[in-house]
Amino acid sequence: MGSKKAKLVFVCRECGHSSVKWLGKCPQCNAWNSYAEEIDPEAIRPSRRSMLNTPSKPEALREIKANAANRLKTGIGELDRVLGGGLVAGSAVLFAGAPGIGKSTLTLQAANKVALLGNPVLYITGEESAEQIKLRATRLKCDAAELFVVAETNLDAIRNHLANIKPALAIVDSVQTLYDQELPSAPGSVGQVRECAAAIIMQAKASGTPVFLVGHVTKDGNVAGPRTLEHMVDTVLSFEGEKYQSYRLLRASKNRFGGTGELGVFEMRGDGLAEVENASRIFLDEYDHARPGCTVVPAAEGTRVLLVEVQALVTRSPMANPRRRFTGLDQNRAHMLLAVLERRAGLRLAEFEVYLNIVGGVQVEEPAADLAACFAVASSAREIKLPPSTVFIGEVGLSGEVRNVATLQQRLDESSKLGFTQAVIPRQRGNQLRTPRDMKLIQLADLREGLEKFFLVE
Ligand SMILES: Nc1ncnc2c1ncn2[C@@H]1O[C@H](COP(=O)(O)OP(=O)(O)OP(=O)(O)O)[C@@H](O)[C@H]1O
Ligand SMILES: [Mg+2]
Repeated sequence: MGSKKAKLVFVCRECGHSSVKWLGKCPQCNAWNSYAEEIDPEAIRPSRRSMLNTPSKPEALREIKANAANRLKTGIGELDRVLGGGLVAGSAVLFAGAPGIGKSTLTLQAANKVALLGNPVLYITGEESAEQIKLRATRLKCDAAELFVVAETNLDAIRNHLANIKPALAIVDSVQTLYDQELPSAPGSVGQVRECAAAIIMQAKASGTPVFLVGHVTKDGNVAGPRTLEHMVDTVLSFEGEKYQSYRLLRASKNRFGGTGELGVFEMRGDGLAEVENASRIFLDEYDHARPGCTVVPAAEGTRVLLVEVQALVTRSPMANPRRRFTGLDQNRAHMLLAVLERRAGLRLAEFEVYLNIVGGVQVEEPAADLAACFAVASSAREIKLPPSTVFIGEVGLSGEVRNVATLQQRLDESSKLGFTQAVIPRQRGNQLRTPRDMKLIQLADLREGLEKFFLVE
């Protein structure tokens, strides 16, 4: 093969940018010290191009047949919803998550459910032996007759298995372990991961088999390996959760065949991941409105509303630059809110440390949580409790105005369903809003006006 003599280049491990000489900083993604020497990927690409072996022919778009309803349901409702209603034939889904979060567990459970319907499913494991998978499968009670497992990392062998078994679903756990013997670079290197993933994705497209590619994430939460991996696949799912809690959240950060706002909620149990259908309350377990500094916001996650508790602690600081720590919120936004509280609502915070936290390890980055964060800070600063069973919804602008948020009706309905009887919301101009039964609405145009109402500023 001519490409054996391919020249070496330096490739950025973060984004896949290549350069003929070593660079300290990547001009594409600005990563430092990220270059590693590899075979020039351009040199091997032509051999892969012929993989489909079918000459291409342009067709009139309106003549092409595609069946939108032809989605493969994994049988795990939360997973299917995040995927946009199931797996599209021939699609490649990158399933990324931190070590030990439950990637192998969920994919094995999905594989089993699909296989139970009589479809062959191939689970390719590169990290564990077939016996280890069997141990997990026994614990998860996965014993479908059509579920096949192979411990393999060699790309050609995997492609042969896919061609022979023609599975209805294939799982590659994980994509970082694959290697192509035609490439001299080590398994796990940028070039190997990219080329192996490309080959499998191409085979999936040609055969119509959907594939799950399990991927690791780096410390800062990005998918490990080449950034191009995210461009190559159709869907990127990320599996998140706090290590010390049993809830796991599944999100689509990219989806060519569905929305990206949906959230799937699971609970890790001894017998596997269980779907959590009534998820709105899970983060409110310990909520106690009787304490100053605590508020609740119904946060919107796709079509689902999650009620989360925002806690603040404001305490006098001996330091010239008092500490500010925010967890679960956007840092810049939280700093902005403190400035607005100080300047527009007259709350003096300059000599105080401020800690703001979303309970339960969830991330709430949407501006609809602004009002809840501001009220939590003010409530803690003044040591004044807020009224019980109250939710706070609203975006706060730089001039202290309270702005409207999307899906307000749904947030109110869900809060009411969970027993909240009062909601502080932005002022409504039209009156399309339907007040839920037994719920009192307090409309605010301005943050200061709101804080005065609850005696949080003079
Ligand atoms: N016997 C058990 N009882 C309860 N939970 C268990 C048990 N065994 C494993 N788990 C849970 O399963 C998790 C590991 O799941 P899994 O192996 O699917 O993760 P993973 O994301 O594939 O990890 P890796 O990145 O190492 O491949 C553990 O962190 C633990 O929470
Ligand atoms: Mg695993």
